[in-house]
Parts: sequence; C-alpha cells; structure tokens
Amino acid sequence: MQQYIIKGGKRLEGEVKISGYKNAALGIIAASIMTDEIVKIENVPNVRDINVLLKAIEDIGVEIDWVGKNTIKVNASKINTVDVDFDYVRKIRGSYYLVGALLGKYKKAKVALPGGCNIGSRPIDRHVKGFEALGSKVKIERGLICVEADKLSGGNIYFDESSVGATINVMLAACMAEGQVVLENAAKEPHVVDVANFLNSMGANIKGAGTEVIRIEGVKKLHGSEYSIIPDQIEAGTFMFAAAATKGDVLITNVIPKHLEAFTAKLLEIGTEVIEYDDAIRIKANGRLGSAHVKTLVYPGFLTDMQPQMTTLLSVSEGTSIVTESIFENRFKYADELVRMGADIKVVESNTAIITGVEKLTGATVSAPDLRGGAALVIAGLMADGYTIVENVEYIERGYEDFEIKMQELGAAMIKVNSDDEKAIRKFKFKVG
Ligand code: EPU
Repeated sequence: MQQYIIKGGKRLEGEVKISGYKNAALGIIAASIMTDEIVKIENVPNVRDINVLLKAIEDIGVEIDWVGKNTIKVNASKINTVDVDFDYVRKIRGSYYLVGALLGKYKKAKVALPGGCNIGSRPIDRHVKGFEALGSKVKIERGLICVEADKLSGGNIYFDESSVGATINVMLAACMAEGQVVLENAAKEPHVVDVANFLNSMGANIKGAGTEVIRIEGVKKLHGSEYSIIPDQIEAGTFMFAAAATKGDVLITNVIPKHLEAFTAKLLEIGTEVIEYDDAIRIKANGRLGSAHVKTLVYPGFLTDMQPQMTTLLSVSEGTSIVTESIFENRFKYADELVRMGADIKVVESNTAIITGVEKLTGATVSAPDLRGGAALVIAGLMADGYTIVENVEYIERGYEDFEIKMQELGAAMIKVNSDDEKAIRKFKFKVG
C-alpha cells in the first residue's frame, strides 16, 4: 500500500505548472472515438481515471498512441464492439461518457454502470431522461446501461436540475442526431464548454455551451482534429489553497484565472494576496488567515471539488467558519480525519460543517476517503506539526498528476512510499529532520 509521508511546517515557494483538466479530458477522450479519423489530443493529464478510460476504449478496439508525456493520438476506426463491460470501468464515473459517444456514432451502447468516488449516491436518471428524449430505449440490467435507437431525433430537453455529466453525455449523442436538439438548464461548467469546443473542432455544430441553453444541429459525420485540453481548475485551486495554508508564495502557471474566480474571492476574503496574470496566478500569504462562510454551488459558484481543501484551510483560520455542501450529500468524510489532527469541526445534518479555527494541526496517520478529501488531507499535513501519513493515495492519484513531485518542487517535505518500505521511510525522516 502506498502512502504519502509529509513533514509539516515548510512554506511552499516557487512555481508549479498545472496539468490538463481531468474532468474535461474524460469527455474529450470519449468524444474522440466518434470519428474514424485520427484525433490528436494535447495536455492529457496522466492520472489514473484517464488511464482507466483509455484502457476501456483500447479494449473495444481503439488504438491509442502516446506521442509525448501528455499527448495522445486516437484511432477509433477499428472499434469492434459497443459492449464496455469490464470490471475496472465501474471504478470511474467518467466511463458513462462512452454511452453518449457510442450512441451518437453507432446508435447503440452497453456500458458498465459507473462507480467513482464515494461522495454521494450519484444517480444517472438525468442522463437516461436525455437519451430517451433523443428517441432511444434505455434499460438498466445486470449492472449495465443499455441504450439503443433506430435513429436519434431532435427536440427540446429540459434538465430540471443542472448536471455536468448529463449535459456532456447528452451533448455527445445529440451532435449526431437528425435535426436540432436544444438542451435547457444545461450545466455551464468550463469542461462542458471544452468538450463542446472539441466536438466543434471535429465538425459538430454546437452553440451556447457555457450558457443555460445549448443548441445542437446534428451532423452526419465527425472528422479528425487536433486539440489541447484546458488547464485543471481543481488542481490549480488545490495548489492555491496549499500555498495559502503554508503561508507560502507560489506562482501557479498554465491556468485560466477566470475559472478560478470563486477560489480567488474566498482567498481574498480571508486575507490572502492574489495576483492575476493572463495565464498564471500568484498566491502570497502571511500571518493567520480569517474565517469565511462558503456554500458549494454550480459554476460560477464555489466548486464542490474544492470544498474539502477550503474547510482544511479554515480549520486553522481565526474565528468560526461555516461550509455548506449543496451538490453531493456525502462529502465531509475527510472531516473526521482532520479532527484526528486536532481540528475543531462539527458536521451537522451531513451537509454543513461548523469550523472553529485552531492555532495548529498536529500530524497523524489519516486515510484519504476520496479524491478531493485526500488532497485536503495532504494540505493538512503540510500545515501540521510533525509527521502526517496519508493512506489510500490511489484515490488522490485518480486526479492529480505527479502530486508529490509538484509539491516537492515547491519545497514540501513529502514522499510517496510503500508502507512497508522502512528503509525509504527512515531515509526521508533522517533527511528532513
Ligand atoms: N445527479 C442526479 N442525477 C443525474 C446526474 C446527477 O441526481 O442523472 C446529481 C448528483 O448526484 C449530484 C448533482 O446532481 O448531486 C450534480 O452532479 P453532476 O452530474 O453535475 O456531477 P457529475 O457529472 O457526477 C462531475 C465531476 C465531479 C464534480 C461534479 C460537480 C466528472 C467525471 N465528475 O460529476 O468531479 O464534483 O461534476 O462539478 O466530471 C472529482 O473530480 O473529484 C469529481 C467528483
């Protein structure tokens, strides 16, 4: 079992480059199999969830060629089945985008129902409703979602609540429908826009992505393309909060500052200095930060994926803070681990954390409960007195590329080791004192 060992108390300083957005990459890679021509995708984050999706499409006949650390060429001209029924596919949420992509291209798909992080019940009813509105028959049987249509037809689809996943999935299928499809109350998140831009670069006709109404004129065929994925706003936000938490001074490059506005606003509110450049952002913090009230919302509100990192930062801020989770019902599991490190956090009605800032956290052995909760525990370890061991790092590796290496380059005393590698652990402790 791999774990991170962190010696807290080091100020993060220097420059860190953000990778491509995992959640956009999942949609874009799925979309890339909708043409028989070659697609080149740059800025692909080399993280577990992406590698699982790539393996899944290879297993149905797609050829993937890595032509650089973060660049792939996709050749989907030899797909030999629309059944994506591999056990490992259940481990990632983003595999459901293969339903929309295969349904668009072949008018049928059978895909193992998604798993993903354990942060709530995560139903897919809005995806199903969208596929049905396009004229397909949808059945859920033996752990698979089975979708089939004679033809995909146009029409209006109204999502009664916003869903990033359903918007992207239905958009994928709809771009090869007959006629016009209008998605109303669509999700506006940056990755919805990125997937739409990518599909348009392949010849799709999608207008309005980034607003609540997306209009899609179906096309018969999509063609090859070259595309670079947008930077990961969650990775960027995580480094912003890690810099603030360690009273550091960090320049975060390869970002779109507009996508970070909700985090910037909160960091300014609690006393951090934030300097924006065209494609970079610098975070400087000094002294004890203040408290804040935060509620997670759909974009451009405060992103649910940054809620654990925010709560962690507030756990050592002066005064009482309240953090309310309104997107997923089970996203405070990491709070128990923070309490083990000395934080004073009470979670009420499972969606609200009342945080009374303490002076210091103390190192402990903690377990990452999910991807973002795990990243938050790393931030806690960077701030804490003494050593922190974060177990279950495979959760964190689902979405952060070279996480410990990027942290080390900023000066963090942090390594990834096998829990039984006593020699490496001794060496690390000797080195950092
Ligand atoms: N929901 C339904 N029915 C549906 C779809 C969603 O009830 O058919 C509910 C969900 O249970 C949730 C809410 O609607 O309560 C929002 O879900 P949404 O569909 O917007 O989220 P998602 O597509 O499942 C993506 C990201 C998440 C991120 C959310 C919110 C991917 C693969 N996942 O999830 O990312 O938290 O949007 O922005 O893109 C992560 O990266 O750690 C992660 C969990």
